[in-house]
Amino acid sequence: MNRDSNRDGATLSEDAKQSDALPGPDEQVSERSLHHIVIVGHVDHGKSSLIGRLLHDTNSLPPGKVEELEQISARRGMEIEWSFVLDAFQAERDQAVTIDTTQIWFKTALRDYVIIDAPGHREFLKNMVSGAASADAAVMVVDAEEGVREQSRRHAYLLHLLGVRQIAVVVNKMDLVDFSQARFDEVSGQITDYLRSIGAEPLVIVPISARGGDNIASRSERTPWYDGPTVISALDGFHGHPGIGAQPLRLPIQDVYKFDARRILAGRIESGSLTVGDTLLFSPSNKTARIRSIEAWSAGDLPQTASAGESVGITLDEQLFVERGELVSHVEKPPKLSTVFNARLFWLGHQPLKVGARYKLKLLTQEAEVTVKAIERIIDTQTLENAEGDLVERNAVAEVTLHSRKVLSLDDYGDLPRTGRFVLIEDYDTVGGGVISMEGLPDQRQAITVKSTNVISVEHRLAAEARASRNGHYGGVLWFTGLSGAGKSTLAMEVEQRLFAKGYHVYVLDGDNVRRGLNANLGFSPEDRTENIRRVGEAAALFADSGIICITAFISPYRVDRDRARASAPGRFHEIYIEADVETCEQRDPKGLYKKARAGEISQFTGISAPYEPPESADLVVDTSNHSVAESVEHIIRYIEKAFTLKKSDG
Ligand code: ADX
Repeated sequence: MNRDSNRDGATLSEDAKQSDALPGPDEQVSERSLHHIVIVGHVDHGKSSLIGRLLHDTNSLPPGKVEELEQISARRGMEIEWSFVLDAFQAERDQAVTIDTTQIWFKTALRDYVIIDAPGHREFLKNMVSGAASADAAVMVVDAEEGVREQSRRHAYLLHLLGVRQIAVVVNKMDLVDFSQARFDEVSGQITDYLRSIGAEPLVIVPISARGGDNIASRSERTPWYDGPTVISALDGFHGHPGIGAQPLRLPIQDVYKFDARRILAGRIESGSLTVGDTLLFSPSNKTARIRSIEAWSAGDLPQTASAGESVGITLDEQLFVERGELVSHVEKPPKLSTVFNARLFWLGHQPLKVGARYKLKLLTQEAEVTVKAIERIIDTQTLENAEGDLVERNAVAEVTLHSRKVLSLDDYGDLPRTGRFVLIEDYDTVGGGVISMEGLPDQRQAITVKSTNVISVEHRLAAEARASRNGHYGGVLWFTGLSGAGKSTLAMEVEQRLFAKGYHVYVLDGDNVRRGLNANLGFSPEDRTENIRRVGEAAALFADSGIICITAFISPYRVDRDRARASAPGRFHEIYIEADVETCEQRDPKGLYKKARAGEISQFTGISAPYEPPESADLVVDTSNHSVAESVEHIIRYIEKAFTLKKSDG
């Protein structure tokens, strides 16, 4: 097996290759832990100097480097300039392509650090979006003289958005403000206020002078009023990945290797752990199998268990045809399956993000094409004000709804930060990164899970045409969708009566009725609604098959559920959008439910506290805000007569 094929393209952690690949046979496994940090801040606030100084003060510079820097600085007639360290590194990198361009290492007495991104690198923000996701901690540099600036706020927002919770703020260039405690307090106040306003909290704020080495590795005598940690001790005090081993198992499949008869599934465990014998669930394929073995690179006993941060190769007790992109979990705590998700997104594209635009989604090892369905709001990272709009400009944050054609395995970022993040790509370029929210959206797993096995369908001996010619019309489904109070039930019952009088075989399945019987065990959670619509879709398809015109009156808020209902009655499903805006429905409030929902007595009420996705291409739209019941009924009857009546020539 080739270690280099441990591709990591779609996980957010390019650095994983370095740190988490399985050790080769002759590699020593270090006892020391490796921490990934990211250093951010406004341009010129001293990030480079801080890095130079960190390297020097931790003896991480190659021998002779300091002398070299002193000479260069002396030639220019200035004191040693620590940011030259980075310039020197850059020069070496430019010559030797083999030197990693995005990683700089240093070590303390306690552990090893890798700075996974650093100023001066091209596309700094882009690397942050795609790389900071795996940062354990961040150092944010703020200039003591200048205080918090635009980029300081943007970077802080981005760190928080990407889930980097361990932030050390350093107030740099304290020498320029005479190590004034008053100025330090003022700047600390600014940054704390901003961080708090976005729900973050700085763990420490350290007054430093990168140039003088104050409070970097050793305490400075020039800040006698400060009794907090130095930068190094602050970093050493941070945790690795707090608690990810205890979280639910997530193992994105990176590659499947075929060896003789065996197939080894390889990937890096993002959270949780697995043990030989465990039953694994693969998503989105929704297949299960048990772990037969965990393979190892080195000779000796095979491991029985593996956990977060480890790259593993596993074999299964049965042959499953799963591919790169599948997400492995345990059966009990799986990711959600959905074709739609909401996201909070940081936009980096030169072209603004637009509704209707398509991008390539990379989510762990999954890739899919997604379409922007809606921009809910745009957030100004400076003022934190919300705005509405159709375009998201570069460097803005927005809440958006994304759809994909294929089913995705999705984790809510709030539950599982490491797997709830994604990036968007356009023309090979990272144009955005964000975090997933599945709140209010259903898990589609139940609706696509087929549990019945060994069932063989039996053919009817009656053709649809035979039923149609007896009835004088075809069977079919008229699927009414719309908000509660839009008029679905009223119109459905009225139409039923009129059609019956005209000799049609017709029956209405109505939400409130069906929910008292067939679906009495379902509530209004996203999953229950999905199941509600799945059952009704199947029942309506049976009615249609029997030759009856089945009118259904359900909110059916999710597009994908309606699409599935359509697929159950192919060729005879008609989606009718009973359209009325929330304001109108709320004014009508026939059952007094909007009032209750507003009072907080009903949770997840469609249109108020739960979503409704209007049809994109309904077969018929009936606007009940602007038409009377009689007009709307006429409209629908005309449609039905045209679509369902058997023409003379048909018989
Ligand atoms: S659906 O969303 O699953 O399609 P359905 O059409 O069956 O809903 O049921 C909607 C009806 O249930 C509404 O007309 C209303 O009378 C009632 N109802 C009770 N709670 C809710 C809720 N939280 N959201 C929407 N409708 C509700």
